[in-house]
Amino acid sequence: MNQTTNGSTDTQSALPVAAPTHAHHAELWSELSRREAALVNAVAGGEDYEPLRRELVAFLRGEVLHHLQTEEMVLYNAARGAGAHALVDALELDHYSLVRLVDHIDQATTGLDAALSARALTVLFVLRIEKEEGVLVPTLTAAGVDVSTLIAGRPEMQGSDQH
Ligand SMILES: [Fe+2]
Repeated sequence: MNQTTNGSTDTQSALPVAAPTHAHHAELWSELSRREAALVNAVAGGEDYEPLRRELVAFLRGEVLHHLQTEEMVLYNAARGAGAHALVDALELDHYSLVRLVDHIDQATTGLDAALSARALTVLFVLRIEKEEGVLVPTLTAAGVDVSTLIAGRPEMQGSDQH
């Protein structure tokens, strides 16, 4: 680790900068985790899980899918413009799987099936966020794209602080 002229270290200066969408991802993840755990716990405890399932599906089809759809429109197009076609193809497969899992949660005929689909979706959503922040945003940044400017004025991408 070498000292630089401003007193910081090379290691410190090499730390990754948080993606501009990180705060909103954290909000979505927190809310999704809370709702998924409530559904799983109700099913495990033999309680009425239907209201929790409906609330989870409404949250997913509202805030979460709205975020993903805007992301596709804004970030994926920019990534294709930067030549990252294979990356976007992979992200679109994730998106398709997430939408299918929402349908599975909605249409499951047993609480156990709904809970298992909710858990699978939660895991996939976390991986999807990690790919966006760890691969997509750095790819765009390396191509000279200012992601903060791209998502400016889009509360569905930036979260409650930007409403
Ligand atoms: Fe995102």
